[in-house]
Amino acid sequence: MADPIFALGQRFEAALAAALGAEHAKTDPALRRSVHADYQANVAMALGKRLGRPPREVAQAIVDRLDVADLCTRVELAGPGFINLHLRDETLARELTDLAQDARLGVPSPTPETVVIDYSSPNVAKEMHVGHLRSTVIGDALARTLEALGHRLIRQNHLGDWGTPFGMLIEHLLDRSAESGAGEAGSDAAAAIADLDGFYREARAKFDADPAFAERSRRRVVLLQGGDEATLGLWRRLVATSTRYFSVIYRSLGITLTEQDHAGESRYNPELRGVIEELSGKGLVTESEGALCVFPPGFTGKEGQPLPLIVRKQDGGYGYATTDLAAVRYRLRDLGATRLLYVVGAPQSQHFAMVFEAARQAGWLAPPARAEHVAFGSVLGPDKKMFKTRSGETVKLAALIDEAAERATKVVTEKNPDLDPETTAAVGRAIGIGAVKYADLSSDRIKDYIFDWGRMLAFEGNTAPYLMYAHARIRSIFRKAEGEGESVGAIVVKERPERALALELLRFGTVVSEVGDTLEPHRLCGYLFDLAGAFTSFYEQCPVLKAPEAATRGSRLALCNLTARVLARGLSVLGIEAPERM
Ligand code: ARG
Repeated sequence: MADPIFALGQRFEAALAAALGAEHAKTDPALRRSVHADYQANVAMALGKRLGRPPREVAQAIVDRLDVADLCTRVELAGPGFINLHLRDETLARELTDLAQDARLGVPSPTPETVVIDYSSPNVAKEMHVGHLRSTVIGDALARTLEALGHRLIRQNHLGDWGTPFGMLIEHLLDRSAESGAGEAGSDAAAAIADLDGFYREARAKFDADPAFAERSRRRVVLLQGGDEATLGLWRRLVATSTRYFSVIYRSLGITLTEQDHAGESRYNPELRGVIEELSGKGLVTESEGALCVFPPGFTGKEGQPLPLIVRKQDGGYGYATTDLAAVRYRLRDLGATRLLYVVGAPQSQHFAMVFEAARQAGWLAPPARAEHVAFGSVLGPDKKMFKTRSGETVKLAALIDEAAERATKVVTEKNPDLDPETTAAVGRAIGIGAVKYADLSSDRIKDYIFDWGRMLAFEGNTAPYLMYAHARIRSIFRKAEGEGESVGAIVVKERPERALALELLRFGTVVSEVGDTLEPHRLCGYLFDLAGAFTSFYEQCPVLKAPEAATRGSRLALCNLTARVLARGLSVLGIEAPERM
């Protein structure tokens, strides 16, 4: 393990046991980076309080038994009981040498588990909009992160591809083909719903205005649910047209979802009855006003009344909750997952909390298995209201991607007019898409974030262009070095900026592991930003190719190389490209 925090942690474990008794061995030493030393341990503050002893005395007892002479030059007590640790240059050099030889760049391999991650999950016959962007981008970054940690990931795109709206959508599709005189009914589905939102809106308007159409639509739902072949054929066309469109978006955003990951609501159709039977058999289903409900404990409405999950509606139909209960059971029982993740907006928090509780009651969700709603806030416009186009419509994802590429290409053209047009276009696209993704990932996911072209495309600050540029700049140093016959050599760490960079590089694996636990990609973004900052200071203060001694040039080139690798790997874990030149 490259991060010295691990090695120091083990020594603290031994010291804590020796100083205070075995029961204290596992106390977190609370090791942090510090301006006063390489690391500071704050463990004595909390422990002192707990034991009713002066923290400084506790700290002294720990320090007396702390055996770190091989790792540190100095260990000092400071203030009311802080322990300051100064690493040896050789320790840093040795750990960095290990890091450079590690293909995983220090990313640990915890015991692998099967993780199901439900993300993106747009609705068929509707346009994907910026709301789906967050689920798609965050979900993909988390899937990549957990894969990097060695877990087995099963992606599930829980498409909204079933339910009552399909009655009106199918009838509208039939009307449209009759109008256009197309041969086979619905054969021109692709053309009819090219404008997905328009198609949905028209169907909805007719449904509201025309009672005969509404009646036809309702009958069509019954046919669909009854498995009528002709109806299913029309439904499949609608689904296929939408999913083809979703795939185009995924590909242009560099999202790892494929058609193999589609597991829409319709997939659970054959299982719904069995789910209700099983829940009934366990005494969890109550009839209420003609509907079948599960009342998971702990959920009450405004007047204190228990809240239901409706598993079968009055009309005998099944809804969103039933499908999600079937999905939980399938993911745990059939897919064998021990961790279920749902990357869905915060407004659905209560729904998931209730579904998880019901799954616990049913005995499907039991330790070590766990389920987590990975909630996120809304995308806001610069006016801090819901992000809309100037004419007030919801922003479509496809248009957004094109605009990002266009804006970034313009920036690249200005910054680097010597680049050939093909590279400019490719790099512009990578920066534009990287900027959109990074803006989303770098903000605390539970908070709303403001969609701001100017900020996300800036080459300064915690942005994708800044990090991508830092990477490309290092790659250009290497092109120059090769031209001069220079190459990486043994790592030696001496100067302050070298030490600071070294300590950042060694943190990478710890941060990736933290993102896997907390499911907060912004921690990795913050880390990469710190790393790029440490590199900039290093590069300003420590000449690389101009260093007088060959050994120093070799060592500094090795530090440059490691930085570029960590930046590229970090960005790739987030789903962002790192071009060789910009
Ligand atoms: N289709 C839903 C929506 O757009 C999201 C589905 C999320 N996943 C789930 N298992 N319910 O709001």
